[in-house]
Amino acid sequence: MRGMEAGGVSAGKRRVYVPRDSAARSVGADAVAERIAAAGAEVVRTGSRGMLWLEPLVEVETPAGRVGYGPVAPEDVDGLVAAGLLDGQGESIGVVEDLPWMRRQQRVTFTRVGIVDPRSPEDYEAHGGLAGLRTALRMSPADVVEEVVTSGLRGRGGAGFPTGIKWRTVLGADADIKFVCCNADEGDSGTFADRMLIEGDPFTLIEGMTIAAHAVGASEGYVYLRSEYPDAVETLTEAIEAARARGWLGERILGSDLTFDLHVRVGAGAYICGEETSMLESLEGKRGQVRAKPPIPALEGLFGRPTVVNNVLSLASVPAILADGAEAYAALGVGRSRGTSVFQLGGNIARGGIVETAFGITLGELVDDLGGGTASGRPARAVQVGGPLGAYLPVEKFDLPMDYEAFAAAGAMLGHGGIVVFDDTVDMAAMARFAFSFCAEESCGKCTPCRVGAVRGVETIDRIRTGQEREKNLVLLEDLCELMTDGSLCAMGGLTPMPVRSAVRHFGEDFAK
Ligand SMILES: Cc1cc2nc3c(=O)[nH]c(=O)nc-3n(C[C@H](O)[C@H](O)[C@H](O)COP(=O)(O)O)c2cc1C
Ligand code: SF4
Repeated sequence: MRGMEAGGVSAGKRRVYVPRDSAARSVGADAVAERIAAAGAEVVRTGSRGMLWLEPLVEVETPAGRVGYGPVAPEDVDGLVAAGLLDGQGESIGVVEDLPWMRRQQRVTFTRVGIVDPRSPEDYEAHGGLAGLRTALRMSPADVVEEVVTSGLRGRGGAGFPTGIKWRTVLGADADIKFVCCNADEGDSGTFADRMLIEGDPFTLIEGMTIAAHAVGASEGYVYLRSEYPDAVETLTEAIEAARARGWLGERILGSDLTFDLHVRVGAGAYICGEETSMLESLEGKRGQVRAKPPIPALEGLFGRPTVVNNVLSLASVPAILADGAEAYAALGVGRSRGTSVFQLGGNIARGGIVETAFGITLGELVDDLGGGTASGRPARAVQVGGPLGAYLPVEKFDLPMDYEAFAAAGAMLGHGGIVVFDDTVDMAAMARFAFSFCAEESCGKCTPCRVGAVRGVETIDRIRTGQEREKNLVLLEDLCELMTDGSLCAMGGLTPMPVRSAVRHFGEDFAK
C-alpha cells in the first residue's frame, strides 16, 4: 500500500503528494514528481484538490497536516528541497486544509479527491471507502431506493431529476436483465468535475454504481467516458480491474448475493452523445442519435431493458448518502436543492477550479470570493452557468443563490454546475451567435426545429449584427427561439434559445452596435 502508516511517515523517507490529475500533468506535475523522488522522498500521486491555479501543487506530510507548495515548476524543486521542503519548511502556502478556499467548502462527493492515491483500493478503504456499499447490502433494494429519495439527491448531469424516483421506476420494472449506465460524457463547456472525480477517486464511482445495481436489481453496468479523457479512461479501467480482483465487483460482491460487473466504453466526441438516449444508442454500437421519449430509459433503456442513467456526480454522491444517512445529506442545501453540488469555475477567472459546497451559496460568492474575479483584472460582465445551453447572466444577478428553482425563475439553469466568466470585453451578440452555431454543429439532425433552426439562427444574428432590418430580425429571432423551445425533440434544440434570449435580455446593447 502506498499509504497510511501511523504518523504518515515511513522510516527515513518523507511522504510527498503530487497530483497525477491531467490538469496538473498538463503543467508539469510528472516532471515535478520525478525530481522530488530523486531528492529521496516517497512520492504518492493523488488527484487534484481542485485549486487549479496552484498546480502543480505539492503537499508534504507533516505532524500539523499536509503543507502545500504551489505552483511548483520542475526547476523549482531543487531550491525548495534545499530550503527544507521535505520537512514542510521554506516558502509554503501553509496547511492545505486550512486555506480559506478549502475551509469555505463542504466536501461530500469530493471528500477523498486530492487526498487518496486513486490507484490504491487499500487507501480507499482506509479513508472510509465501501462503508456506503456495506450499509446498502444490509438493506433491501426498496429501502436503499427510499434512502436516496429521502436524501433529496437530484441528477447532477443537468436536468436535476430526483435520482431516487428514477431508481424506483427501474426497481419496479420487470425484466430479465437491467442495467446501470453512468454518463461521463461531460461535454458542457467549463465542466471538469466528472473527470477530476474519476481521475482522483474512481472507486467512489464504482461503489455508487454498485449500490445503484443493488437498489434496482441490475447485473451489468457501463461507464460512457469521452475519448478526450485518456487519463480518466486509464484510471477507471485500472480501478475496475482492482475492484474485480478484490471481490468488489463480479459475483457475490463482499460476500452478498449481489452480482454486478462494470465496463468502460469510450465515446467519440459528439456533444449529443451526452444526451441520455443518444448515449444509449452509442453504447449499443449505433450512431448517436436521440430517441423519442416515451419510452423513458428507466423502462426501456439499453437494449430495450430497464436502465438507470445517471451522471458521474449523482452516482458518486450515493456512497456518502448511504454511509452517513439520507438525513445528513438532506440537511445541507436550500429549498428543493438538497445536499452539495460540485461547482466548476472556469473561463476568465483568477482562481479557477472545483468548489463543492451546499446549494444556496450565491453566484457572486463563487465568482468573486472564491474565484477572485477575472484573470484579466478587468471587470466581470457576464457568466454562463450550466454549459453551452445555459443562460448568460450579468453581474447584477450575482446575488442569485445556486438553487435549481431560483435559477429557473431567473430564466437560467444550473446544469452540470459549470460557471464560465467573461470580462467587459465580451461581445454578447457574438456569444449568442455561437450558441446557434454550436447547435448547428452538434445537432443530431433528427428533428427540423433544431437541425434547420440553428442554421437560420446564425443567419438571423448575422443580419442583426450587420444592421440589416434589425428590429424585424430581432422579432424573427424571438419567433425562432419560441419555435425551437416548443418544437424540438430534445433539450439540445429546446435549450439553445436560453443563452440567446438571455444575451438579448441582459445585454441588448450589444445587438444594436
Ligand atoms: C445535448 C445534451 C447533452 C447532455 N450531456 C450530458 C453529459 O455530458 N453528461 C451528463 O451526465 N448528462 C448530460 N445530459 C443530460 C442527460 O440527458 C441525462 O439527463 C443525465 O445523464 C441523467 O443523469 P442525472 O439524472 O444523474 O443527471 C445532456 C443532455 C442533453 C440534452
Ligand atoms: S433537438 Fe436537435 S439534437 Fe435533439 S433530437 Fe432534435 S435534431 Fe437531434
